[in-house]
Amino acid sequence: RKKEPLRIMISGAPASGKGTQCELITQKYGLVHIAAGDLLRAEIAAGSENGKQAKEYMDKGKLVPNEIVVTMVKERLNGPDSCEKGWLLDGYPRSSSQAIALKEFGFQPDLFILLEVPEEILVERVVGRRLDPITGKIYHLKYSPPETEEIASRVTQRFDDTEEKVKLRLQTHHQNVEAVLSMYEDITVKVNGIGSKQEVFAQIDGALTQLLEQKQEKLGTV
Ligand code: AP5
Repeated sequence: RKKEPLRIMISGAPASGKGTQCELITQKYGLVHIAAGDLLRAEIAAGSENGKQAKEYMDKGKLVPNEIVVTMVKERLNGPDSCEKGWLLDGYPRSSSQAIALKEFGFQPDLFILLEVPEEILVERVVGRRLDPITGKIYHLKYSPPETEEIASRVTQRFDDTEEKVKLRLQTHHQNVEAVLSMYEDITVKVNGIGSKQEVFAQIDGALTQLLEQKQEKLGTV
């Protein structure tokens, strides 16, 4: 029977666990993970003009201008892998203008996942976060430490992962979140992001399983 790919958005405050959940979702559902923040950091690493401009905004915890972000995300969504396997869009849209742009390009998600985590927990998650530059895997010194000594010796910290910068990122998040949410109200599922990463994933997994069943039923009746 014909299968229709899933199109999912995941949103939440800085360090609410988006990237961590995306690892688990892609493992099980095989979607293409498109993270706006990762695309921007790749531009910075490549030393491109867009990367240089983006870094100035990211350093201040502000949104990078749409001229840079919108096209970048659109190109990934239009990639043959995303069309075939479905996509998981992480950290985009972050403003109503980004949401409108997406709609105009014809990208309509099936589900909008919102991770809810209280602010005092977010700061601790940010300062303890480490990344493996080789595998891209996300760790936390306390909650999800590297599995081996070798990995522990090579993990790095993101330039915007300080207490001071996360406060600015949180401010930006609060300024924009309501406008974005209001555009996806009818397809939003709110997920409690406080438990262990497996507990959080169990909630998301439940919502995605249900969504897949609904999609299959619809296809079956056509
Ligand atoms: P981005 O890279 O998207 O950063 P963010 O939104 O601040 O989110 P994070 O990546 O910090 O956190 P996360 O939710 O993925 O959490 P993670 O799973 O790593 O954006 C960076 C910047 O780019 C922005 O500030 C902006 O300037 C720019 N930008 C991005 N998108 C843009 C857009 N659309 N438009 C304009 N500008 C844009 O988890 C965090 C830590 O917690 C980890 O250490 C993890 O191990 C741990 N953890 C995760 N889950 C759990 C759990 N359940 N229990 C305990 N610990 C956990």
